[in-house]
Amino acid sequence: MAAVESVGEDGVRRRDFIYVATGAFAAVGGGAAAWSLVNQMNPSADVLALASIEVDLASVQTGQAIKVSWRGKPVFIRNLTPAEIQAANATPISELRDPQTLGERTKEGKQNWLVTLGVCTHLGCVPLGAAEGEVRGDYNGYFCPCHGSHYDTAARIRKGPAPTNLEVPEYAFKSDTLVQIG
Ligand code: FES
Repeated sequence: MAAVESVGEDGVRRRDFIYVATGAFAAVGGGAAAWSLVNQMNPSADVLALASIEVDLASVQTGQAIKVSWRGKPVFIRNLTPAEIQAANATPISELRDPQTLGERTKEGKQNWLVTLGVCTHLGCVPLGAAEGEVRGDYNGYFCPCHGSHYDTAARIRKGPAPTNLEVPEYAFKSDTLVQIG
């Protein structure tokens, strides 16, 4: 009888054994895949060469933004208008989920240059608003359409699920219009 034949001496049914064996194999396979992924993620020489990039901002007009790629991530660089700077500075810090002034998010004397990662702090989508004509959300900064996070003109989170402001990467001005990111 099939029911008797499929039960081993220890009472484990053959069918169960197949499931257990398959599960163990999958776990080993998963471990190997994870290892090789981690191994591939170790930086190679050409990746290290991109650890920092230089961007010439001379052609970025007031009110324009550009997207550049740095370490595989999008970076938004926006030349804020006086009205956008004023809107950011007029916002009471107490209204902010992640309280930071525009001054703290920009370099001294260069408050118009807003440099942030283009990576939503909720689950990592690329927000809209850097390209011409894209939706910029209720606070006229950036808008993440994945789950509706609205960032203001200083790229600070104002509405939606994202917990923190768009991250400001490490950067420095090498000259009036040349910025080094990283
Ligand atoms: S990833 Fe941006 S709102 Fe969820």
